[in-house]
Amino acid sequence: MHRFAITLLAALALTLGLAACDGGKPAAKFASSDITGAEFAQAFTLTDHNGERRSLADFKGKAVLLFFGFTHCPDVCPTTLARAKLALQKLGPDASKVQVLFVSVDPERDTAEVLKGYVTAFDSGFVGFTGTPDEIKQVAQDFRIIYQKSKGDGPNDYTVDHSTQTYVYDPQGRIRLYISHAQDVDAVAHDLRLLLDGA
Ligand code: NI
Repeated sequence: MHRFAITLLAALALTLGLAACDGGKPAAKFASSDITGAEFAQAFTLTDHNGERRSLADFKGKAVLLFFGFTHCPDVCPTTLARAKLALQKLGPDASKVQVLFVSVDPERDTAEVLKGYVTAFDSGFVGFTGTPDEIKQVAQDFRIIYQKSKGDGPNDYTVDHSTQTYVYDPQGRIRLYISHAQDVDAVAHDLRLLLDGA
């Protein structure tokens, strides 16, 4: 009788243990790199594509995808913005809970007007940012973004090599993820879904 009771308790504990495991909140399995708690990439204030001064913190309440690039970019920037657009489409109605931001590392050519035409061609809700060259330099440093002009044939003909990661913030405005350029649409959508679900 006694032994039977102990066996029963053990079985019960095992069952409860499994139940707790199922019902608890296991660590989220993000497809991209989890950088929760990072102390860089915290804040900026720049000029948006409508000419208004706005800050990263103004977008609290939504998950934010933040990417740095330039409108003349031949490949990485268009594919990254297109990937963001496709990921939002996969989220369906929850796409309204995600904000995509694009910061120019080519402020000489990327005026607010140029940026507006560029980012809204991908999605009318995307927001572009520019600033003075000094402002961009400081923000890039704060966000660990490297960029460097490389000359073309003419004086105004140059390209800009730049870091290609996308940062993701949760709706509370905390930095959470580092998405490499190599991640696919499904991975981005999957990670955004986890964050929107409270991960
Ligand atoms: Ni680019």
